Amino acid sequence: MRQEWFDHARFGMFVHFGLYSGAARHEWVQNYERLTDEDYRPYFDNFDPDLFDAAALARTAKESGMGYVVLTTKHHDGFCLWDSALTDFTSVSAVGRDLVREYVDALRAEGLKVGLYHSVIDWHHPDFTVDWNHPRRDDENAHVLNEGRDMSRYRAYLHGQVRELLTAYGDIDYLFFDFTYPEEKDGWAGKGPEDWDAEALLALCRELQPEMLVNDRLGIPADFVTPEQYQPTAPLLRDGEPLVWEACQTLNGSWGYHRDNTDQKSPTLLVQMLVDSVSMGGNMLLNIGPDGRGAIAPRDAGTLAEIGEWMRLHERAVIGAGHAPFTPPREGVYTLRGDRLYLSLFSWPLGFVHLPGLADRVTYARLLNDGSWLRTSVSDPEQQADLMTPAGEAEGTLTVHLPVRRPDVLVPVIELRLRAE
Ligand code: GLC
Repeated sequence: MRQEWFDHARFGMFVHFGLYSGAARHEWVQNYERLTDEDYRPYFDNFDPDLFDAAALARTAKESGMGYVVLTTKHHDGFCLWDSALTDFTSVSAVGRDLVREYVDALRAEGLKVGLYHSVIDWHHPDFTVDWNHPRRDDENAHVLNEGRDMSRYRAYLHGQVRELLTAYGDIDYLFFDFTYPEEKDGWAGKGPEDWDAEALLALCRELQPEMLVNDRLGIPADFVTPEQYQPTAPLLRDGEPLVWEACQTLNGSWGYHRDNTDQKSPTLLVQMLVDSVSMGGNMLLNIGPDGRGAIAPRDAGTLAEIGEWMRLHERAVIGAGHAPFTPPREGVYTLRGDRLYLSLFSWPLGFVHLPGLADRVTYARLLNDGSWLRTSVSDPEQQADLMTPAGEAEGTLTVHLPVRRPDVLVPVIELRLRAE
């Protein structure tokens, strides 16, 4: 099964890096501020990623408990991080470095799976037509700009660049295309699968990298779906069948480095999002936007270090784990790995946590962070709420006794060993 490693890994790192990292105010800056090529040019002329250290990036991902990394080869601004023969708008022209090469080598050295992100949108290419997402959409006579632009020439460029990426860098495990917007808006057309010739592009991927996973953003179904910046609330299904999915998440709402953005998510929230995703059979791809010099910003490094410390003790509730067919208590979520059921607690109850339906199923319970045994008992359904006695729990409920003080970890996890049914 093509996605076996992916289902197993559960946790990956997204890396958004490019000219916008130096602009330091969102990777969509060119669109948001309607910048022309000339306006945007200084970020190319002054691109200086002296601290972009692929080995450090790979090590950080590994230490955070991630199994794969996904790097932007080209974002919507069209700037390429590899040695493309089809344009000189590349990191090689700018600073003499093929950052994709550095990156794939570093990942392989750490034993991580290699993922690439590739924007099918390209605001730099002269044949890419202006549409409602394009930075030039509000120019005076904007529609005139499309005279002479020829999407079939852009398509040849797009397919040619994907061919380069999938032939020159060895085995690629994962490709994230971004993105398709077929709807019309503000008097402009959008762009749909036919604008990319999505079928042919996917066929090219299958031909050149038959084992590679491809996402769904060409506008046609492929191997996995990609909820962005939100958490589903149940396993994702299509026609009753579970879908392979991965939620991509930011640290602060921006993918590219955004210096003045202070919306940093807490490490606790991020760990909750991770186990929550796994509990619904999905993955989490957590983004970092290296800064203008290519370094991981200190605030991001700090967050990742805290997540990594949690993963050191709790990774078995995540890696190789998935959806469990039990209804969790209100305090948290379940993940299942073989005969172990993990209860990640998002809130810490007083004294007990009650697990409906598990009375006869559990042979041993312990806290995962320190391996300390937890007493269990089966509640008496006859017991009534009273001044001095607990309320009766439904029949078949297992009660796990907890210490008053919550363990000092981001999210406490109880490991329950299941009896074979
Ligand atoms: C989006 C945005 C983008 C980001 C991506 C990540 O669709 O256009 O900037 O790269 O999602 O999923």
